[in-house]
Amino acid sequence: MLGKKYIADLIGQMTLLEKAAEMTQLWGENPDGTLMGILRGFHEKEHLSANAGSLLGFNGAERVLEAQRLHIEENAHHIPLLFMTDVIHGYKTIFPSVLGLGATWNPSLIEESAAVAAAEAAVSGVHVTFSPMADLVRDARWGRVVESTGEDPYLNSLCAAAFVRGYQGDEIGAPLHIASCVKHFIGYGAVEGGRDYDSVQLGDYSLYNEYLPAFQAAIDAGCELLMPAFNTVNGIPCTSSRRLLRTILKGDMDFQGTVISDCTAICELVAHGSAEDNAHAAALSLDAGVDIEMVSSTFYENLERLVETGEISMQQVDGAVERILTLKDKLGLFENPFKDADPEREKELHLCPGHRALARRAAAEALVLLKNENCALPIKKSERLALIGPFADSRKLIDIWGLVNGKETDCVTLRSALEDYKTDYAQGCHLWNLRDMDEERLPDDELIAQAVETAARSDKIILVLGEHPDMSSEAGSRTEITLPENQLKLLQSVCRTGKPVVTLIMNGRPMVLNEVAASSDALLVCWFPGTEGGNGIADILTGRCGPSGRLPMTFPRATGQVPIYYNHLPTGRPNTTGRYQPFANGYIGIDPGPLYPFGYGLTYTDFSYSPVSLSAAEITLSDHSGPDEALLTASVTLTNTGAISGTETVQLYLQDMAGTLSRPVRMLKGFQKIVLEPGESCTVTFPITAKMLEYYIPGKGLSLEAGTFRAYIGAHAQCSAYQEFHLKGGY
Ligand code: GLC
Repeated sequence: MLGKKYIADLIGQMTLLEKAAEMTQLWGENPDGTLMGILRGFHEKEHLSANAGSLLGFNGAERVLEAQRLHIEENAHHIPLLFMTDVIHGYKTIFPSVLGLGATWNPSLIEESAAVAAAEAAVSGVHVTFSPMADLVRDARWGRVVESTGEDPYLNSLCAAAFVRGYQGDEIGAPLHIASCVKHFIGYGAVEGGRDYDSVQLGDYSLYNEYLPAFQAAIDAGCELLMPAFNTVNGIPCTSSRRLLRTILKGDMDFQGTVISDCTAICELVAHGSAEDNAHAAALSLDAGVDIEMVSSTFYENLERLVETGEISMQQVDGAVERILTLKDKLGLFENPFKDADPEREKELHLCPGHRALARRAAAEALVLLKNENCALPIKKSERLALIGPFADSRKLIDIWGLVNGKETDCVTLRSALEDYKTDYAQGCHLWNLRDMDEERLPDDELIAQAVETAARSDKIILVLGEHPDMSSEAGSRTEITLPENQLKLLQSVCRTGKPVVTLIMNGRPMVLNEVAASSDALLVCWFPGTEGGNGIADILTGRCGPSGRLPMTFPRATGQVPIYYNHLPTGRPNTTGRYQPFANGYIGIDPGPLYPFGYGLTYTDFSYSPVSLSAAEITLSDHSGPDEALLTASVTLTNTGAISGTETVQLYLQDMAGTLSRPVRMLKGFQKIVLEPGESCTVTFPITAKMLEYYIPGKGLSLEAGTFRAYIGAHAQCSAYQEFHLKGGY
């Protein structure tokens, strides 16, 4: 690193227009593959192209080496480019969708996957990834839930920090590490109606206790960049909110890194009705704390005049440029502008056996077993299997963001992964992409008829259904989160054969699976499992691995229940009857609870839990120091009562029975993945600290209030075993 003085001297030599260019990120490439921004002709402004600070979505070792060499020559001060792109669950070796990684409940696996992604991206010239996405999500209609790790602040915090550590290592300038950019700040998962880009109303109680924690965890892990969300919060766009970006982010949360707008989000302030014009949008965004403008040029077009008129100060501009140049310095780009870009290393690392092996393990660990009756699973070598469905022999195992750099052609299909089993394949029906309004919906009757014949000849049906990967992710909001009707027709048809049915779901969101669950002997959620998806799923189906995934989001009984999440407030008329109850919280004619709760997932064995025991029933806070010191412990004895080994994710939930503010019916505060052999038992103990019991009260800050608490320990968010303890003292 060349340090602060070098950067200060450099800034002192730059003109205001050069600074504005440095604050501008250009598209790296047109859809038709012609280059923009770096070599010639972008914006018909040579000067902007020559002095832009970064490129979006431009990578590949050879191209980056050439582009960087040219840029350094053309740039007025020979300042190297930053190359940024979306590497959110892998670069060439694609891991399960982020929601699937969340389902592993395995932060160290997530960290490993991020380190692999960083290495593969770094040798292709990537310096920054727009990950982790730390948004708390509760509305499965929103397409971007697929990019999150789910509905819980604690699990999201662990995952976000793990991603940052994996990408960045101890220092981003070290070989094969890249800088991470946590996004989308803040509340994007709470868009009205689950409609992407819509408005958000968010009070500070929920903001501080539910939406900010995962961002704080990423910042505490050293995340170098942050991206504001497209949406407004309480009427103010995140991109131009001084309160969110300066008071809360840079103040309360002590973020000192670089803020980059989302794609054209600064221009969008005009559409939001928050800015008169692009110049006003530029002023608002810079004043709020945005340093880099992503693929629009309001800074470049307007900063000179804004400084001239005094709407923006040169100090504000210099602050933004200093953060950008400091990031480049931390990456070591002033000494080595090419960092890790290396065509030979690309060939060595991309999709290498070790990376594929990790992706295979992640695909297996992400899979959540929701039902397994009549010994449907694991499958047996002796069984004749009917492998049916639009995903059974499909390589469409990667979501939209994985395809930014990954390729479907690298994927292993489930059919090929089961080739040493006796299988007969039938497509069963077409895979509809309901996002593509013009898609031709081919008739399925013949395909279904063939599938029924195949099923009738088999001992067991492996039915592989799901939503098209294009139907989730950005701008992928849906009004119904059910399977397409042609797939349900296929399900009904093959079930009429009376054969055992194992149904696999490929999905980017929680889905309404009532009919699927009722018709299947076994049901597994696979998410979009990635490059090694077929092998990972086969490892579970065959019993080579036992299922250990747990739901990171609640699965509803009906789309109308959404948003539905476990850590809700109790209300004055809670309904835990499991059915409609007059004058109680819920809906007419349906169990108000979920089909499958947060944290739910089965294994191939069975586990029993002893009653919860506490080390103390009463604690006085003054007897203890430090927020992280255990005030008491909660424990259970866990026993594998089944016939094979298994991994149980034992979960600790706490409930504050009464507070100044109404508190959630329970909150995940710890979990442990325990492997036990048949008949084996162990004691699982959780410390309970002041930090776990405190919460943020708007206008007061972090508080811990005396009173009665419950400690639940069990296998999911609806576990019922608890013990109460009483806390004296507080703050
Ligand atoms: C998109 C997304 C953001 C992504 C960025 C760059 O619009 O909102 O998550 O990182 O643009 O591709």
